[in-house]
Amino acid sequence: MKVLITGASGLIGQALVHALEKRGDETVPVTRSASAADRAVRWDPQRGELDPGDVSGYDAVVHLAGEGIGDKRWTETHKARVLDSRVRGTTLLTESLAEVDRPPAVLVSASAVGFYGHRDDEVLTEQSEGGDDFLSDVCRQWEEATQPARDAGIRVATIRTGLVMTPEGGIFPRTLLPFRLGVGGRLGPGSQWWPWITLQDEIAAILYVVDNDGLSGPVNLSAPNPVTNAEFTRTLARVLRRPGVFSVPSAALRLILGEEMASELLLVSQRVLPRKLLDGGFAFAEPRLEPALRNMLGKPGA
Ligand SMILES: NC(=O)c1ccc[n+]([C@@H]2O[C@H](COP(=O)([O-])OP(=O)(O)OC[C@H]3O[C@@H](n4cnc5c(N)ncnc54)[C@H](OP(=O)(O)O)[C@@H]3O)[C@@H](O)[C@H]2O)c1
Repeated sequence: MKVLITGASGLIGQALVHALEKRGDETVPVTRSASAADRAVRWDPQRGELDPGDVSGYDAVVHLAGEGIGDKRWTETHKARVLDSRVRGTTLLTESLAEVDRPPAVLVSASAVGFYGHRDDEVLTEQSEGGDDFLSDVCRQWEEATQPARDAGIRVATIRTGLVMTPEGGIFPRTLLPFRLGVGGRLGPGSQWWPWITLQDEIAAILYVVDNDGLSGPVNLSAPNPVTNAEFTRTLARVLRRPGVFSVPSAALRLILGEEMASELLLVSQRVLPRKLLDGGFAFAEPRLEPALRNMLGKPGA
């Protein structure tokens, strides 16, 4: 297959390029960077610049690009960039795909479990309603922006991804640090559900969605056994053989990160199940947290 990938330079994108090329597929990145490889397609979502001729003739498109959500404090400017980069980028890409002579068979477009908002212990599947906070609104608009591709007859799947766990980046190395320093512990009440997934399973699931003609619409990408933050903390402490008895009060997190960012990224509770992947027979390499952490950290069980 010939696969076009936006956000190919990111955490998930790099691993996806590697996996596709390993199985013999050809990949072409779409990037804002002027210094990328010659074969890359250049675009500027902010200015609405993308040559439709550059997106014609692919079998599949995977769209991952967007301003980092957890990288910076959520000022109004940063929030606008988070939203705009996704809505403008997705609209530009899908309108371009809709007008080419040879559109792809499938568009897999990133979204996030943030779609569901804060839901306590409720079990969430693709059929559940969306939430009503900032990230829910971002995800809703991000998913809706894929409509031009759907109207053009392209199979569209929006992948509602959970917390991607890998030592290479994202949330996991940041979670790990306090444990390594011996001051690890739960965040806020610890009762909030964390829909985690290993990077390896995230990539396998993206390939599964690309390859599986029967999958479209929202697809949850998270492990089938979500855990509470307290259980995550206990498990990580056990695997690392470090204490995990501390706790960071919600008020402190809100002070450090700001009310909205703390509430929607760390204190939010999302007990998400990957219903469509499970019903389709997708086999997770790491369905359970403890073996997943042991593998990632090179700490075999006793
Ligand atoms: N990692 C997670 O745990 C997680 C969880 C849920 C959802 N997701 C979503 O999945 C997607 C990929 O995640 P990731 O962790 O691989 O992201 P990432 O490492 O932050 O990479 C995102 C890529 O998007 C491009 N980008 C950055 N800012 C942009 C902007 N303002 N406008 C347009 N493009 C921009 C960059 O590519 P260029 O510089 O080459 O243009 C970058 O490599 C993201 O949309 C993310 O929100 C990730």
